[in-house]
Amino acid sequence: MSLILPLLVLAYLIGSIPFAVVVSKAMGLSDPRSFGSGNPGATNVLRSGNKKAALLTLIGDAAKGGLVVWAARAFAGDLGLQAMDLAWIAVAVFLGHVFSVFLRGKGGKGVATAAGVLIGIHPGLGGAVLLVWIATAALSRYSSLAAIVAAISAPALTQWITGAEHWTIAAMVMTIVLIWRHKENISRLLKGQESKIGSKKKSA
Ligand code: G3P
Repeated sequence: MSLILPLLVLAYLIGSIPFAVVVSKAMGLSDPRSFGSGNPGATNVLRSGNKKAALLTLIGDAAKGGLVVWAARAFAGDLGLQAMDLAWIAVAVFLGHVFSVFLRGKGGKGVATAAGVLIGIHPGLGGAVLLVWIATAALSRYSSLAAIVAAISAPALTQWITGAEHWTIAAMVMTIVLIWRHKENISRLLKGQESKIGSKKKSA
Protein backbone atom coordinates (compact mmCIF):
# COMPACT_ATOMS: atom_id res chain seq x y z
CA MET A 1 0.00 0.00 0.00
CA SER A 2 1.28 3.46 -0.88
CA LEU A 3 2.17 5.65 2.06
CA ILE A 4 1.77 8.88 0.14
CA LEU A 5 -1.60 9.93 1.58
CA PRO A 6 -0.64 9.61 5.27
CA LEU A 7 2.70 11.28 4.48
CA LEU A 8 0.94 14.20 2.79
CA VAL A 9 -1.31 14.61 5.85
CA LEU A 10 1.72 14.43 8.17
CA ALA A 11 3.60 17.04 6.08
CA TYR A 12 0.51 19.29 6.11
CA LEU A 13 0.16 18.96 9.92
CA ILE A 14 3.83 19.77 10.51
CA GLY A 15 3.52 22.76 8.15
CA SER A 16 0.47 23.91 10.10
CA ILE A 17 2.48 24.59 13.28
CA PRO A 18 2.28 28.41 13.47
CA PHE A 19 5.63 29.39 14.96
CA ALA A 20 4.74 33.10 14.95
CA VAL A 21 1.84 32.43 17.32
CA VAL A 22 3.63 29.73 19.36
CA VAL A 23 6.80 31.83 19.87
CA SER A 24 4.86 35.03 20.63
CA LYS A 25 2.70 33.25 23.20
CA ALA A 26 5.72 31.54 24.79
CA MET A 27 7.53 34.90 25.08
CA GLY A 28 4.49 36.75 26.47
CA LEU A 29 4.08 38.96 23.37
CA SER A 30 0.85 40.03 21.62
CA ASP A 31 -0.56 37.61 19.09
CA PRO A 32 0.87 38.75 15.69
CA ARG A 33 -2.63 38.41 14.19
CA SER A 34 -3.68 41.42 16.30
CA PHE A 35 -1.26 44.07 14.96
CA GLY A 36 0.66 45.24 11.90
CA SER A 37 -0.33 43.29 8.79
CA GLY A 38 -2.03 40.71 11.02
CA ASN A 39 0.10 38.03 9.36
CA PRO A 40 1.41 35.21 11.55
CA GLY A 41 4.94 35.43 10.15
CA ALA A 42 8.44 36.57 11.10
CA THR A 43 8.15 39.99 9.40
CA ASN A 44 5.07 40.87 11.42
CA VAL A 45 6.51 39.48 14.67
CA LEU A 46 9.45 41.84 14.07
CA ARG A 47 6.94 44.73 14.21
CA SER A 48 6.43 43.84 17.90
CA GLY A 49 9.99 45.15 18.33
CA ASN A 50 11.24 41.78 19.59
CA LYS A 51 14.03 40.67 17.20
CA LYS A 52 14.62 37.40 19.05
CA ALA A 53 10.98 36.37 18.64
CA ALA A 54 11.11 37.24 14.93
CA LEU A 55 14.31 35.23 14.47
CA LEU A 56 12.86 32.22 16.32
CA THR A 57 9.73 32.43 14.16
CA LEU A 58 11.83 32.57 11.01
CA ILE A 59 13.92 29.58 12.11
CA GLY A 60 10.88 27.52 13.17
CA ASP A 61 8.88 28.21 10.01
CA ALA A 62 11.88 27.52 7.76
CA ALA A 63 12.99 24.44 9.71
CA LYS A 64 9.62 22.69 9.41
CA GLY A 65 9.78 23.05 5.61
CA GLY A 66 13.42 22.03 5.40
CA LEU A 67 13.12 19.05 7.74
CA VAL A 68 10.06 17.59 6.02
CA VAL A 69 11.68 17.78 2.58
CA TRP A 70 15.02 16.50 3.86
CA ALA A 71 13.33 13.53 5.60
CA ALA A 72 11.20 12.72 2.54
CA ARG A 73 14.30 12.71 0.35
CA ALA A 74 16.37 10.73 2.85
CA PHE A 75 13.74 8.00 3.29
CA ALA A 76 12.28 8.06 -0.24
CA GLY A 77 13.74 4.65 -1.06
CA ASP A 78 12.49 2.96 2.15
CA LEU A 79 9.05 4.57 1.78
CA GLY A 80 8.74 3.78 -1.94
CA LEU A 81 8.31 7.42 -2.90
CA GLN A 82 8.47 8.56 -6.52
CA ALA A 83 9.81 11.94 -7.65
CA MET A 84 6.36 13.55 -7.86
CA ASP A 85 5.48 12.19 -4.40
CA LEU A 86 8.42 14.18 -3.03
CA ALA A 87 7.20 17.29 -4.85
CA TRP A 88 3.69 16.99 -3.37
CA ILE A 89 5.12 16.44 0.12
CA ALA A 90 7.10 19.68 -0.31
CA VAL A 91 3.92 21.46 -1.43
CA ALA A 92 1.93 19.93 1.46
CA VAL A 93 4.20 21.29 4.19
CA PHE A 94 4.10 24.72 2.53
CA LEU A 95 0.29 24.62 2.25
CA GLY A 96 0.10 23.59 5.91
CA HIS A 97 1.75 26.88 6.82
CA VAL A 98 -0.50 28.93 4.53
CA PHE A 99 -3.76 27.15 5.44
CA SER A 100 -2.90 26.09 8.99
CA VAL A 101 -5.37 23.66 10.52
CA PHE A 102 -4.37 25.06 13.94
CA LEU A 103 -5.39 28.58 12.84
CA ARG A 104 -8.68 27.45 11.22
CA GLY A 105 -7.17 27.70 7.75
CA LYS A 106 -5.82 31.24 8.23
CA GLY A 107 -2.07 30.75 8.17
CA GLY A 108 0.88 32.81 7.03
CA LYS A 109 2.14 33.91 3.63
CA GLY A 110 4.59 31.04 3.26
CA VAL A 111 7.88 32.89 2.75
CA ALA A 112 10.02 31.29 5.47
CA THR A 113 8.51 27.84 4.93
CA ALA A 114 9.09 28.05 1.17
CA ALA A 115 12.69 29.08 1.87
CA GLY A 116 13.08 26.04 4.14
CA VAL A 117 11.58 23.77 1.48
CA LEU A 118 14.03 25.12 -1.14
CA ILE A 119 16.97 24.60 1.26
CA GLY A 120 15.70 21.03 1.84
CA ILE A 121 15.58 20.44 -1.93
CA HIS A 122 19.11 21.80 -2.46
CA PRO A 123 21.04 24.10 -0.10
CA GLY A 124 22.52 25.98 -3.07
CA LEU A 125 19.02 26.63 -4.39
CA GLY A 126 17.87 27.93 -1.01
CA GLY A 127 20.99 30.13 -0.89
CA ALA A 128 20.42 31.51 -4.41
CA VAL A 129 16.77 32.43 -3.73
CA LEU A 130 17.79 33.91 -0.37
CA LEU A 131 20.32 36.12 -2.18
CA VAL A 132 17.52 37.43 -4.43
CA TRP A 133 15.47 38.17 -1.28
CA ILE A 134 18.39 39.93 0.44
CA ALA A 135 19.27 42.03 -2.63
CA THR A 136 15.64 43.14 -3.14
CA ALA A 137 15.14 43.83 0.58
CA ALA A 138 18.40 45.81 0.77
CA LEU A 139 17.38 47.96 -2.22
CA SER A 140 13.69 48.45 -1.36
CA ARG A 141 13.41 47.85 2.42
CA TYR A 142 10.14 46.00 1.67
CA SER A 143 9.97 42.42 3.00
CA SER A 144 6.90 41.65 0.89
CA LEU A 145 8.47 42.90 -2.36
CA ALA A 146 11.62 40.89 -1.61
CA ALA A 147 9.46 37.78 -1.07
CA ILE A 148 7.55 38.33 -4.32
CA VAL A 149 10.72 38.89 -6.41
CA ALA A 150 12.43 35.88 -4.78
CA ALA A 151 9.34 33.74 -5.42
CA ILE A 152 9.27 34.77 -9.08
CA SER A 153 12.92 33.76 -9.42
CA ALA A 154 12.43 30.40 -7.67
CA PRO A 155 11.05 28.15 -10.45
CA ALA A 156 13.76 29.13 -12.97
CA LEU A 157 16.49 28.80 -10.32
CA THR A 158 15.06 25.43 -9.28
CA GLN A 159 15.14 24.11 -12.85
CA TRP A 160 18.63 25.50 -13.40
CA ILE A 161 20.17 24.22 -10.14
CA THR A 162 18.39 20.87 -9.70
CA GLY A 163 17.54 20.09 -13.34
CA ALA A 164 14.57 18.17 -11.91
CA GLU A 165 11.10 18.83 -13.26
CA HIS A 166 9.29 17.61 -10.12
CA TRP A 167 11.05 20.19 -7.97
CA THR A 168 10.35 22.92 -10.53
CA ILE A 169 6.65 22.01 -10.41
CA ALA A 170 6.72 22.24 -6.59
CA ALA A 171 8.45 25.64 -6.81
CA MET A 172 5.88 26.88 -9.35
CA VAL A 173 2.95 25.88 -7.12
CA MET A 174 4.56 27.61 -4.11
CA THR A 175 5.23 30.75 -6.19
CA ILE A 176 1.61 31.01 -7.36
CA VAL A 177 0.20 30.54 -3.83
CA LEU A 178 2.79 32.87 -2.26
CA ILE A 179 2.05 35.71 -4.71
CA TRP A 180 -1.69 35.21 -4.24
CA ARG A 181 -1.19 35.42 -0.44
CA HIS A 182 0.61 38.74 -0.95
CA LYS A 183 -2.27 40.38 -2.84
CA GLU A 184 -2.93 42.87 -0.04
CA ASN A 185 0.79 43.68 0.13
CA ILE A 186 0.80 44.23 -3.65
CA SER A 187 -2.10 46.62 -3.37
CA ARG A 188 -0.35 48.51 -0.52
CA LEU A 189 2.91 48.61 -2.51
CA LEU A 190 1.07 50.09 -5.50
CA LYS A 191 -0.51 52.74 -3.27
CA GLY A 192 2.80 53.48 -1.55
CA GLN A 193 1.31 52.38 1.79
CA GLU A 194 3.38 49.25 2.49
CA SER A 195 5.41 49.41 5.71
CA LYS A 196 9.15 49.02 5.43
CA ILE A 197 11.33 46.54 7.33
CA GLY A 198 11.92 47.82 10.85
CA SER A 199 8.76 49.90 11.13
CA LYS A 200 6.84 49.40 14.36
CA LYS A 201 3.42 47.91 14.99
CA LYS A 202 -0.02 49.40 14.35
CA SER A 203 -3.31 47.58 15.03
CA ALA A 204 -4.28 45.05 12.35
O1 G3P B 1 7.07 37.13 5.12
C1 G3P B 1 5.87 37.77 4.82
C2 G3P B 1 6.19 39.07 4.15
O2 G3P B 1 6.51 38.86 2.82
C3 G3P B 1 5.12 40.09 4.28
O3 G3P B 1 4.71 40.15 5.61
O4 G3P B 1 3.61 41.11 7.56
O5 G3P B 1 4.50 42.60 5.77
O6 G3P B 1 2.49 41.22 5.32
P1 G3P B 1 3.78 41.32 6.10
